[in-house]
Amino acid sequence: MKDTLKIVNHEIYISETSTRKLASECSTPLYIYDLPALKKRMAEFKDHFVSDKLNTRVIYASKAFSCLAMNQLVKQFGFSLDVVSGGELYTALQSHFDLSNVYFHGNNKSDDELKMAIELGVGTIIVDNLMEAKRLVQLNNNTERKIHVLLRVNPGIEAHTHKYIQTAFIDSKFGISTLNIEEIKAVMDTIQTNPNLQFDGFHAHIGSQIFELDAFKAEIEKICQFVQDIQNQTQINVHTLDFGGGFGVRYTDEDQPAAISTVCQTIVNEAEKQIAALDLAVKEICIEPGRSIVAEAGYQLYTIGDLKQTPNRNYIFVDGGMTDNIRPVLYQANYDFDIATNADAPKTQSVCIAGKCCESGDLLAENTLVQPYQTHDLLLVSSTGAYGYSMASNYNKLAIPSVVFVDHGKIIPIIKRQTYQNLIARETLIDQELLNL
Ligand code: LLP
Repeated sequence: MKDTLKIVNHEIYISETSTRKLASECSTPLYIYDLPALKKRMAEFKDHFVSDKLNTRVIYASKAFSCLAMNQLVKQFGFSLDVVSGGELYTALQSHFDLSNVYFHGNNKSDDELKMAIELGVGTIIVDNLMEAKRLVQLNNNTERKIHVLLRVNPGIEAHTHKYIQTAFIDSKFGISTLNIEEIKAVMDTIQTNPNLQFDGFHAHIGSQIFELDAFKAEIEKICQFVQDIQNQTQINVHTLDFGGGFGVRYTDEDQPAAISTVCQTIVNEAEKQIAALDLAVKEICIEPGRSIVAEAGYQLYTIGDLKQTPNRNYIFVDGGMTDNIRPVLYQANYDFDIATNADAPKTQSVCIAGKCCESGDLLAENTLVQPYQTHDLLLVSSTGAYGYSMASNYNKLAIPSVVFVDHGKIIPIIKRQTYQNLIARETLIDQELLNL
């Protein structure tokens, strides 16, 4: 169990908030964020991603957990915001985020999304490929909007992580390979045909849940060498380098991430070193953490329903499942589970934790250890703050659970549970005559 959790009378408290109280007041399944822990993590990035030689910028990757309240926190810490869709951009707008501080990503932004970004005054667009560069130039032709542009390049670093979350292998759908200099120059030339588009530099992101800091060092070295080539060939000064996110977090004891201070300082030091050694004109470096900001502050709480024994499994059925956390099914992701109502007992029970979806694969854990339990006990899953809520679905028409912050005993609702009405709000009945046989 995490050392930020406390046990009182056998029961887990998150930021001095009783899990029983959370379940009875907010019902389960429930997403919970420990607000002080979240702020502490954000402060670590703010305090340690600093350099006395370069400007530094932390851009929160909102895909990890996007909502109004989270964006308010991001603004409060002075971070920028990475959005990847019109929906995330709209969320930024509605949270009163300064849109000039928004970075718009995506490998296939639609014309409507690009127009929306232009009209709303998004500060920076990360162009993914030549076709997009051409569309952007055209769409921005009749406006006076100044937009900064970064180009996403793919440095070909294969980090050791699940293959679905690697992004910089040579055939990745994201960005242009740094080996393809001609296409990169064509994008830069295209951007420069429009005086309102300001080409600032390059972006790369090598994958997610990466523990080896050497992978980030290799990325920085490769990008800086590539920038030197580009500077020599084009005489264009590259002002900004954005190295993406992907910093690993602790889901279970097997995960041993470096401290955020170490991650930040490693990146800053390596960038300072390469930029000086290669005599680059780069003035600003950025990172885009998503998971490493929100994952460990987040929890999910379920109520245990029926129990069932099969020849090889002790099933615990919970009142949610792959609809509120797809990661175990999609990436074979492991989590730490605790019986929140019997948390100080030793973990002696080997169980299979299954959700309620009509899908045999709907398992949160195939074989994990928990404390002794009974039906109606509460089950707490730790480190679910990233890509849990944001990847939730309505399969089987299960309602997406609510989200709360907890702060020293206070429960702060931030997203309401979907209602049955919400689930059919966009649906319509058709005329009887269409039903006739
Ligand atoms: N920047 C870019 C361009 C990205 O594509 C991503 C993540 C990030 C930043 C943030 O990466 P992070 O710091 O969160 O690792 N759904 C998967 C993760 C997909 C990540 C996609 N891109 C999961 O649940 O593991």
